[in-house]
Amino acid sequence: MKLVKLIANLGYGSRKDVAWMFREGRITDGDGEVLYADDKVEPARIHVDGEPLDPPPGLVLAMHKPLGVTCSRKDPGRVVYDLLPPRYRVREPALSSVGRLDRDTSGLLLFTDDGALLHRIISPRAEVTKVYEATLAQDLRGDEAALFASGTLLLESETTPLAPAMLEALGPRHARLTVTEGRYHQVRRMFAATGNHVETLERVAVGALTLGDLAAGAWRALGADDVARIFVATQDALAKAPQA
Ligand code: URA
Repeated sequence: MKLVKLIANLGYGSRKDVAWMFREGRITDGDGEVLYADDKVEPARIHVDGEPLDPPPGLVLAMHKPLGVTCSRKDPGRVVYDLLPPRYRVREPALSSVGRLDRDTSGLLLFTDDGALLHRIISPRAEVTKVYEATLAQDLRGDEAALFASGTLLLESETTPLAPAMLEALGPRHARLTVTEGRYHQVRRMFAATGNHVETLERVAVGALTLGDLAAGAWRALGADDVARIFVATQDALAKAPQA
């Protein structure tokens, strides 16, 4: 791809703007040598105004979504894109969140501009595990693990039962839940089906990829090893689920 198009697609401006940036000598290599629009150079070597060029398409990010922020591009309140550099909102191909977390759910939220990867992560057939920790309004009854693992739980107004999920009690009102689907308000509705109410909810892992030391509101670009971790051990986690 031509450099002007590559840089414009990353949100630095229109192609005309970027052509001007070349003329003004604002686009250089890592040693500060001015680049020309028809140079052949690896994106990783390009600098704009002395700063490394944003990552090219194929970008995957992990964010620690804080509470009170909506997974949407436009919303009257704060949205997850407000936590990313403004250019990331206008990149082509578009950077999308991989599924959604509710406004009142915190935790690990992935973004990518790779449509095939996004589909691979969210497709129920891929059985990528999503791990949540919930605090509950009432004590666990004791039968939730068997019910969630049974593969027969039908959520209100749905016709297909949920796939088996694994519940671990972390305390009387504290549970870790591992699911492979991403239905609307799934975790809250699962506990509601047992007569309980989720008070706080955090997603702590997707596959074997965890939040690590990402602070609430922070994000980082993922490397190939991190992306591979998303697809690791998804079945192992569920195999340990108690059978009904
Ligand atoms: N389940 C929910 O109920 N909410 C989320 O945000 C994610 C899973």
